[in-house]
Amino acid sequence: MTETPDAAGGPLPGVFVAFEGGDGAGKSTQARALAEALRASGREVVLTREPGGTSAAEAIRDVVLDPAHTGLDPRAEALLFAASRGEHVARLVRPALQRGAVVITDRYLDSSIAYQGVARGLGLEVVEELNLWATRDLLPDLTVVLDVDAGHGLARVTDPNRLEDEPESFHAVVVQAFRDLAARDPQRYLVIPASGDRDAIAAQVLARVEQLLDRAPTAQTDPVAVSSAAAPPHDQSEPGAAT
Ligand code: TYD
Repeated sequence: MTETPDAAGGPLPGVFVAFEGGDGAGKSTQARALAEALRASGREVVLTREPGGTSAAEAIRDVVLDPAHTGLDPRAEALLFAASRGEHVARLVRPALQRGAVVITDRYLDSSIAYQGVARGLGLEVVEELNLWATRDLLPDLTVVLDVDAGHGLARVTDPNRLEDEPESFHAVVVQAFRDLAARDPQRYLVIPASGDRDAIAAQVLARVEQLLDRAPTAQTDPVAVSSAAAPPHDQSEPGAAT
């Protein structure tokens, strides 16, 4: 159950899981694997990504990741990511959590802290505060950090976006920032070396998420969510395979 209160002050019945890590860590593959495993057990799952997840947020994604905008002002960049996130949470993530779904996002708020706050040097606190404001304080129940050395991760990236075009030293700072964020609050993070066997990583993630689900109402037992549990899966994105 998401500890963050909803707009009316009550707890959100769904479970919110974020995948984070440096570029090329395999987040998208693992997010999809988790979604498939949970759907197979009858859960309503919303698989989504950031930046993106709604049409307006995807439009912001196109701007902020476009390599044509090399040298975009770092504050403008941070605001665009936060704007995309605010829209994503308001229109997709929070409503899904309110009806008891499991929401799995490929990147979330920690990406802004790591890339814009730390690697761009804008400051961890100000970027965190901006994004908590944008999301009305919505934090994941669990953040899975797929830990990859910057060099290894970048070697897996094809067709780099504007952020992936940054030098390896930038990405090394990003990777360390994720490790530091996880160390701040170990209960809400699961850090896994991304170099491991894909299926073994997926099993480790699923086991941890199942622990969370044991504490939350299931789609089947929540009367409000019964109809949506029967609906076809509705992925909000088709994140690239090798990320
Ligand atoms: P994407 O192709 O989705 O990368 P990946 O598949 O590796 O997640 O592009 C997202 C890029 O945007 C990625 O390089 C990380 C960056 N990013 C930020 O800098 N700040 C953010 O808040 C988010 C969500 C992503």
